[in-house]
Amino acid sequence: MKIPTLDDVDVEGKSVLLRLDINSPIVNSKIADTKKFEAHVTTLKELESSRVVIMAHQSRPGKKDFTTLEEHAKVLSEILDRDVKYVDEIFSNRVIEEIKSLRVGEYLLLENVRFYSEETLKRSAEEHSRFHMVQRLKDHFDLFVNDAFASFHRPHTSVIGFVPVLPSVVGRLVEREVNALSRVFESEGSKVFILGGAKVDDSIRVLKNVLKGIADRVILTGVVANYVLMLLGYDIGDVNKRIVEEGKSDVRDEEVIEILRKYRGKIVVPKDVAVDKDGARLDVPIDEFDGRYRIGDIGSETISMISDEIQRHEVAVVNGPAGVFEDEKFAFGTFEVLKAVSKVKYSVVGGGHIATATRKFGLEDRMNHVSTAGGACIRFLSGEKLVALEVIKDYWEKKWSRFFGRA
Ligand code: 3PG
Repeated sequence: MKIPTLDDVDVEGKSVLLRLDINSPIVNSKIADTKKFEAHVTTLKELESSRVVIMAHQSRPGKKDFTTLEEHAKVLSEILDRDVKYVDEIFSNRVIEEIKSLRVGEYLLLENVRFYSEETLKRSAEEHSRFHMVQRLKDHFDLFVNDAFASFHRPHTSVIGFVPVLPSVVGRLVEREVNALSRVFESEGSKVFILGGAKVDDSIRVLKNVLKGIADRVILTGVVANYVLMLLGYDIGDVNKRIVEEGKSDVRDEEVIEILRKYRGKIVVPKDVAVDKDGARLDVPIDEFDGRYRIGDIGSETISMISDEIQRHEVAVVNGPAGVFEDEKFAFGTFEVLKAVSKVKYSVVGGGHIATATRKFGLEDRMNHVSTAGGACIRFLSGEKLVALEVIKDYWEKKWSRFFGRA
């Protein structure tokens, strides 16, 4: 099924509802990284001849960085070099008035959509379309453009709820992401996945899926490697077990043991680890480790083994850091993994922390693609369907394509 894009619709003079993903790290009430904003610039600029109302979220209720989008509007204004208005509500009468008064070439950012309690209910697009947010706003727009690739795995109101009631297409960022990530499947040659980070559940999900077909090798680093070492019978100690447990909620040990048995020759695990001994890095072979210290990185022998392994492949996908790279003494593993990945023919970095590390180490320009997405990127690369993409394609085919000559 075709993915409808901005090429399929006419935006000139139209009122466009645009969903972005500008959910970003916030430090001391300031947005600490504007990469996600910059990634939307192509789409935003392409809508210069429309009236544009932007919806977005920041974090989740209960979290420290769950906040209003006032600062986000300022960042958008800066990177677009034009005023982006902001209204601290989502679908009140005031918002409707603001939308009505918008002129061609003007942008308005609405409040954090997660302030609205129905937003995150897991419902179908049809059900979401009957919720207040959609019913109140839909009649004020000609078109819905979804550019929030990092949220494409979320069946939320602002992500899928407008699709049944407004002609809907994806934005340019989504196109770039889908094309770049699809090349992982389409590229010839052998493929290596390097999985790390602290989200054990996510990594195991990817491990399971990629081993079924696409990956020739999977290298485990970070907390997920420590979990697997534990399952292989190594004593990683209580402090490291606790960190593993924090990243793990629905993974069953027996299932992972079965995967390890079935794909033994394809999975690479660390042979040494770097621990924090009285504030200094100490490399210890895994069979000599007594579990006394916190593991902060993969060990030096592992680093050189996996750097060589990575460079034997044509395609490399890295998802999640190898260690606590924010701490200089534990940055070595992540840095060397990224360096090796940057040397293969087609290199992809999957969002979140590892994208930040790639920038920090100045390696961004040496990668073929650094995704803006974490969960959505992982799911896509695992061969899972992204709900927002499916809904847009589905409604385009069954409903909206007939309204546009270029379908
Ligand atoms: C992300 O940062 O991965 C997206 O913005 C989605 O955020 P979420 O995991 O809170 O839904």
